[in-house]
Amino acid sequence: MDTQTHDAWSVDASELAANATPAETLRFALRYAVLAPSSHNTQPWRFIVDGETVTLNADRLRALPVADPYDRELIISCGAALFNLRVALSRFGLAYAITLFPSRADPDTLATLKLVPGGHVDTGLTALFDAITARVTTRLPFSDEPIAPEIRERLIEAVQAEGAELACVHTHEARMRLAEWIAEADRRQFDDPRFRRELAGWIHSSRRDDGMPAYAGGISTLLDFASPLVSLAIRTFDIGGGVAAAHQALATGSPLIACIATGFDDAPAWLSAGQALERLLLTAVTQGLTASYLNQPIELETMRERLRATINIDGAPQLLLRLGRGPRIGHAPRRALTDVVS
Ligand SMILES: Cc1cc2nc3c(=O)[nH]c(=O)nc-3n(C[C@H](O)[C@H](O)[C@H](O)COP(=O)(O)O)c2cc1C
Repeated sequence: MDTQTHDAWSVDASELAANATPAETLRFALRYAVLAPSSHNTQPWRFIVDGETVTLNADRLRALPVADPYDRELIISCGAALFNLRVALSRFGLAYAITLFPSRADPDTLATLKLVPGGHVDTGLTALFDAITARVTTRLPFSDEPIAPEIRERLIEAVQAEGAELACVHTHEARMRLAEWIAEADRRQFDDPRFRRELAGWIHSSRRDDGMPAYAGGISTLLDFASPLVSLAIRTFDIGGGVAAAHQALATGSPLIACIATGFDDAPAWLSAGQALERLLLTAVTQGLTASYLNQPIELETMRERLRATINIDGAPQLLLRLGRGPRIGHAPRRALTDVVS
């Protein structure tokens, strides 16, 4: 693990000075915000701290035009970071007021958060604080230990609390069909040289503080991510068949497959899906669970509708996840705070 990774994840709440100014407190809380997941670990966010206020901006220079042409996942990622910020501030006993999309003229300004001294603290979030540094995307197989119905209920409630819906896949038949579509979507994505080129660009070894590192398990055990030739291999060869088979096995073998959906399919809905995602993931951690993503059929517009019908959801599918108990793996790196906070 390099120093950058170690530093970001070893943040310690006791380091927040008792007499910190509001701006210092916000900057400290942002150390937790940036530990949020993001597609391809692009970390597409920028924060501006001004006294008691912090503004969250989308950094569209970190977009993924092939996998995410409308910046949907980019805004979901920013929503996850916003949720971590809320959890950290609540844990520090601070109340805040959030205005979403405060500027009609600037769609990149996603939210402003202002501390409200003496206001109501969202104590319901504090129990999730320790999960922020424990959460990790686990792409390896999970144990087949079933998830108890009461835990599943908690996960559903976590997503609902953020204005989204969690549809769990219950029947064997639906799971098998989904697994096939995930494999089909993999093959289609990897068939596209632009997709492979984009993915390769976000895989180490050339990157240090973003992108997907070797020890994150990569896109499957199919590839040895420790090899510097991995990104070259992805760029050059259509390896979609092998990836598809690996993902199909993960989809059929995981104890829970679930889809986060929203009533609308616009930027406010994506921001809400991001907050719901992180609330779900942190709640899962408190229950000893981990997760990874099988978003491929959602990323392909033509398959999204099919997925919606199969899982029986009213809203727009945003993320497809598998959850279960998995092996411990290392954290992905994070950019320096000075790069994302001003
Ligand atoms: C909106 C979104 C979409 C994602 N899609 C995928 C995906 O399709 N496949 C995958 O393996 N990981 C996916 N991830 C996980 C990221 O790659 C991961 O969060 C990132 O590499 C950082 O690692 P960490 O979550 O362990 O901190 C996604 C994350 C987010 C927030």
